[in-house]
Amino acid sequence: MTEIVYLNGQFKPAKEATLSIYDRSVLFGEGVYEVVPIYNGKPLALDLHYQRLVISLKTIFIQPVFDLKTWHELILQLLQHNDYQHKNCLLYTQITRGSTFSRSHKIPHDLQPTVILFIQPFVPPDPLQNVICFKVVTLADKRWQRCFIKATSLLGNILSIEEAKAQQADDAILIRNGLVTESNISNVFIVKNNIISTPIANELILNGIARQLTIALAHQQQITCHERDIKENELYEADEIWLTSSSKEIAPAIELNNQPVGTGRPGPLWCKFIKLFEVYKNQLLAKSYAN
Ligand SMILES: Cc1ncc(COP(=O)(O)O)c(C=O)c1O
Repeated sequence: MTEIVYLNGQFKPAKEATLSIYDRSVLFGEGVYEVVPIYNGKPLALDLHYQRLVISLKTIFIQPVFDLKTWHELILQLLQHNDYQHKNCLLYTQITRGSTFSRSHKIPHDLQPTVILFIQPFVPPDPLQNVICFKVVTLADKRWQRCFIKATSLLGNILSIEEAKAQQADDAILIRNGLVTESNISNVFIVKNNIISTPIANELILNGIARQLTIALAHQQQITCHERDIKENELYEADEIWLTSSSKEIAPAIELNNQPVGTGRPGPLWCKFIKLFEVYKNQLLAKSYAN
């Protein structure tokens, strides 16, 4: 099957979808993106992804190029072109400033943004069959201070994952001024005495959609979940640590700096919560696509 992608108004084979070397995403990494999990052809929480996309775009002074309905229609067309209407995949959407013939740090405000959509195969986590556990280390958060923008310029995250890999870990939990921010590709939750806590969604973290769904589900189930500052040493005392993202959903981190987290196995609250999450996810999908 030829992989069909969307670029600036056209669906075309991936090999034919090319960008100008002057695109400001090539020169400056000047763009934003979203990754949306699609289950059986249905995007999960597309409205929340759209809200975040608009925040990212407006913060870097790009006007939203489509509304939620148009985005959804484009996604459905893309799925159809790839014969993915009833499959799982990850939708990648990127919007860049656009291209111009002069390279200047000053933002040209009159450019036509570049819009890219493509899909990638996705096997959703199936914790009842196979739990994917993570090993993490703590590292200093050396990224910039506007991590709430889902920016394509991810050099800080990439180099930090490399540093974690050098320590035989999958990822790092990042620490800024003694406080937990997030991981390089996920949000962080800790559990202590059956109370869930996660860092506040300020400018220093990406307000993950899986994070938002986890908090909403905890509230719905009347499981205490606090959004608050988390000190680094609370990680070492936690009964459980969870990592959340759209592709990993909610995953247990079982090792921190080569020491077991809690018992070193997925914790009891995670085991309970992940089953609730499966139901919640299916309810959200059914509600969003009722007709
Ligand atoms: C730095 C960072 N934090 C958190 C997340 C989780 O966000 P989401 O739940 O929207 O996938 C991601 C996902 O890519 C990320 O890159």
